[in-house]
Amino acid sequence: MKIQDWKKNNSIVMTTCYEAWSARILADSAVDAVLVGDSAAMVVHGHNSTLPIDVATMAQHVAAVSRGLNGKKFIVGDMPFMSFRKELTDVMTSVEVLMKAGAHSIKLEGARGNEALVKHIVQSGVPVMGHLGLTPQSVHGLGGYRVQGRSKEVADQLIEDALILQEQGCFALVLECVPSQLAQQITEKLAIPTIGIGAGPHCDGQILVLHDLLGLSGQRYKFVRPFAQGEEWMKQALNTYASSVKSKDFPSIKESFE
Ligand code: KIV
Repeated sequence: MKIQDWKKNNSIVMTTCYEAWSARILADSAVDAVLVGDSAAMVVHGHNSTLPIDVATMAQHVAAVSRGLNGKKFIVGDMPFMSFRKELTDVMTSVEVLMKAGAHSIKLEGARGNEALVKHIVQSGVPVMGHLGLTPQSVHGLGGYRVQGRSKEVADQLIEDALILQEQGCFALVLECVPSQLAQQITEKLAIPTIGIGAGPHCDGQILVLHDLLGLSGQRYKFVRPFAQGEEWMKQALNTYASSVKSKDFPSIKESFE
C-alpha cells in the first residue's frame, strides 16, 4: 500500500522491529509497515528510557531490519534523543545515515521548535512521520510516562501541534497515550493518517511494540493486548531443550554427523 493511501485505507497496522530474524517473519505477515523505534534502547538494550540510544546504533538496527524484510515492508527509522536538535548539517547527516541504512522515512518526536526542520527534511525528499502525546524522549520534561492531553489546555496544544506537523509536510502522525476522544478529534481534523498507541480505536492505524504484542516484554500496560504468550512459549522451549540435553535425548543419532 502506498503511503498516500494510508488515510483512506483507515486501518494501517504497524509494529516495531529491531533486528533481522523477526523482520524476516514480519515480512510475510499482514502488518503494513514497520517502525525501527528508539524503544530498542529499552526493549533490546535493557535501558529504562529511550534516551541512551544513538544514531549509529539505530542505523545498525535499521540495516538489520531492512535485510530481514528484504524490501517487503515500508520502514520508518526513529531519530533518537537529541539527534534532531543540533545544527542542521548534523541533523541532516543523521537523517542520511538512517536512510542509507535502509529506512524509507524517518520519525521524530514533538512539533514546537521542529517546524522548519520537518519542512526541510520533507523538501529533501525524505518522508517524515510526526509523534505527539506521550513523547518518551521528553519523559523528564513531562514528569514521567503518563497520558497527555487530559486538560483542555494541553489538548488544544496537541491539536495545534498536529496541524503544524501536517502543514510542515508530515505524511503521518503517531499519537501516543492520549485520551481516545482527543485522538478522534485530531484524526478527524487531519488529512494525514494518525497511528495510535494507547490512543483508542478512532485513529487511522495502530502501532504496538513487537515484544509487547507477542507477550515477550514482561510488561502489562493498559493499552497493550498480548496476542501471544511469547514468554511462556519461550520458557517452555528452553526448559524442554535443557531437559532433553540432560536426559541425553538430544542430540539423537539422526541429529548428528556420521
Ligand atoms: O520507539 C517506539 O517504539 C515508538 C512507538 C512507541 C511509537 O516510538
